[in-house]
Amino acid sequence: MTNRLSPVGALDTLPRKQLLSFPTPIEEMPNLGAALGRSGLYVKRDDLTGLAFGGNKVRQLEYYVGAALAEGADTILITGAVQSNFVRLAAAAARKCGMDCHLQLEERVPKNDPTYKQSGNVLIDRILGATIHAYPDGEDEEGADRRLHEIAEGLRKKGRNPYVIHLAPGHAPLGALGYVDAAREILFQSAGAGLEFDQIVVASGSGHTHAGLLFGLRAVGSGIPVTGICVRRPADQQSPRLISRCGEIAELLGMEPVVRDEDVVVRDDHLAPGYGRMNEAVIAALKLAAETEGLIMDPVYTAKTMAGFLDIARSNDPTSKMLFVHTGGTPALFAYEKELTAAAG
Ligand SMILES: Cc1ncc(COP(=O)(O)O)c(C=O)c1O
Repeated sequence: MTNRLSPVGALDTLPRKQLLSFPTPIEEMPNLGAALGRSGLYVKRDDLTGLAFGGNKVRQLEYYVGAALAEGADTILITGAVQSNFVRLAAAAARKCGMDCHLQLEERVPKNDPTYKQSGNVLIDRILGATIHAYPDGEDEEGADRRLHEIAEGLRKKGRNPYVIHLAPGHAPLGALGYVDAAREILFQSAGAGLEFDQIVVASGSGHTHAGLLFGLRAVGSGIPVTGICVRRPADQQSPRLISRCGEIAELLGMEPVVRDEDVVVRDDHLAPGYGRMNEAVIAALKLAAETEGLIMDPVYTAKTMAGFLDIARSNDPTSKMLFVHTGGTPALFAYEKELTAAAG
């Protein structure tokens, strides 16, 4: 049986700051199963990771904040979409560790709705007392990182010691390590409950969560298929990104590659009309999870992922065991009040 601490390369020797309440529960979703005429549907409640409304980014931040503290940093800098959960949680983690935080919010979603710009995660960013910067482009990852470095340079001149969490690929994928560890947690929990999952479904955005989970499973000898649901870019762009991420994780952990290219499975059926925008199937998935299980999805990541999960659950063996990873993001619901009020009827 996989031990909670089955060794995975250098994983347990790297700097890490505990921010997470773990293990997060794995719960069955019998009512959702009944609505689809099947059984075997489960959810990993990573919306309950404990810090400032929770979500997957808490696991990722344990390694970034660990590295920042090891360098003696006093300020965290991060960039993301206006309604970014990562940004909100980085600010909360910084505060919890006695640091300042600078958040750069990118115009990634074409929405002029004042609720989108001020409510949800943005409201929490402000409550956390973060310094907020605007960035006019949502697709220029390198440019957004460069701008963060300019802000960091300004802070250094004032005697501060900033730590930058990068957005663009090409940097050590520290965030993915949180999900390498989560793979051990899932295997340990499921073995204890006598459960063997046939499939895991997870959101695939930057790819840290998806690549980390896949790497972690393979590293401890599990072959469970993982399907990533594209929330940010189409499958033909996301697959190579994940393959590179898995290679970078191996390098970071001082291990041989354990993920084969064919292990990387992504689906982009619900990406349209684009990042941060919902189609009808996505809204229907959000409503179905809420009405059958009292589970609240977010409009940007988990509702899209739930729509993909439902497609698979409707088409595969109705007795197979499927795990949906709920990665959180619920504060963004309040930024989509207009669309969701209309959809809720
Ligand atoms: C709630 C939520 N789920 C999923 C994701 C996607 O995770 P990743 O960027 O690791 O692919 C994000 C990314 O911000 C998120 O905020």
